[in-house]
Amino acid sequence: MSTILVTGGAGYIGSHTVVELLNAGYQVISIDDYSNSTPAVYDGIEKICQKKPLIKEIDCTDKLLMSKCFQSNGKIDAVIHFAASKFVGESVEQPLRYYRNNIDSLLTVLELMEEFGVGKLVFSSSCTVYGQAKSLPVTEESPIVPATSPYGNTKQICEEMIRDAIAVTPLNAISLRYFNPIGAHPSALIGELPQGVPQNILPFITQTAIGKRKQLQVFGNDYNTPDGSCIRDYIYVVDLAKAHVAALSRMMANEQKRGYEVFNLGTGRGLSVLELVRAFGEATGVPIPFEIIGRRAGDIEQIWADPSKANRELGWCADTPIHKVLQSAWSWEQRLNERCG
Ligand code: WQD
Repeated sequence: MSTILVTGGAGYIGSHTVVELLNAGYQVISIDDYSNSTPAVYDGIEKICQKKPLIKEIDCTDKLLMSKCFQSNGKIDAVIHFAASKFVGESVEQPLRYYRNNIDSLLTVLELMEEFGVGKLVFSSSCTVYGQAKSLPVTEESPIVPATSPYGNTKQICEEMIRDAIAVTPLNAISLRYFNPIGAHPSALIGELPQGVPQNILPFITQTAIGKRKQLQVFGNDYNTPDGSCIRDYIYVVDLAKAHVAALSRMMANEQKRGYEVFNLGTGRGLSVLELVRAFGEATGVPIPFEIIGRRAGDIEQIWADPSKANRELGWCADTPIHKVLQSAWSWEQRLNERCG
């Protein structure tokens, strides 16, 4: 029974991945500082899986507490590192907090993995490393251009740190470049838990649908896209979580073709903001009022993935239809509303 240390395990993607890891039979140690999550997430995980991970409240930049975690929980076979700040717009306003949290947390994890002889890492990277790609869809060989946000830059720097560490240590790693994760577990027992005003579009849409927000503000319709709004590759968070189990299995079975591999995790389809808004109304029967305002700093115009390498090498595909994904987000928002009253 392999033991996986998951940092950020109470977070949006982390919690959905913990569910898939537990269901796949792994022992899981989940670390989170609850800066963008809450311990109640683990109750949802337990209801889904009939078991919980070993839970630790730790800030990943706290090397002393992290060292104790590596020391006192038996052999750790691999690490999945999610813990990071993740909002593009927020990172433009608070760059130093993003550099401190995202770089420092990975540095701590890499140093302790070397110290304790843990040789397998799955890293939560991002399509933002591509910046505004000149040709689409982006493949893993698409050029890494200067990021348009501090968030994207932290992910570029983290990937370089991993690459350099692998060159001189027995570390093996897989970086998973996520496109835009959306939706919630079909049980509606876990999902996205934005703190305050949602930064990402889908929780803002669902909060508008439930009446918590008056209307959606669309950040610009003067982009060089068919309807003028930005295009993204929206991927179901459960499909994304399953990709982490596939990547881990690849490492545990020593099937990696090289010590460091990178995979795009997207659907391969781009959707504009206005198309997403329309699709939500069609999928749920709840139309979303919106107004067009100015562009958001840090946003790129359009990006979507060529996921064929992950499809081929990981035997994985993001195949959940968008209307089911949007319905899952809406069910989660309704469940949240019932609970919070
Ligand atoms: C999507 C589109 C906004 C809010 C996310 C994650 C990031 C990374 C990539 C993993 C943009 C528009 C948004 C709103 C809007 N994923 N929008 N009104 O910025 O693409 O980044 O995916 O690493 O971690 O944050 O996602 O949902 O913020 O924005 O018009 O109220 O929706 O301009 O075009 P983004 P997002």
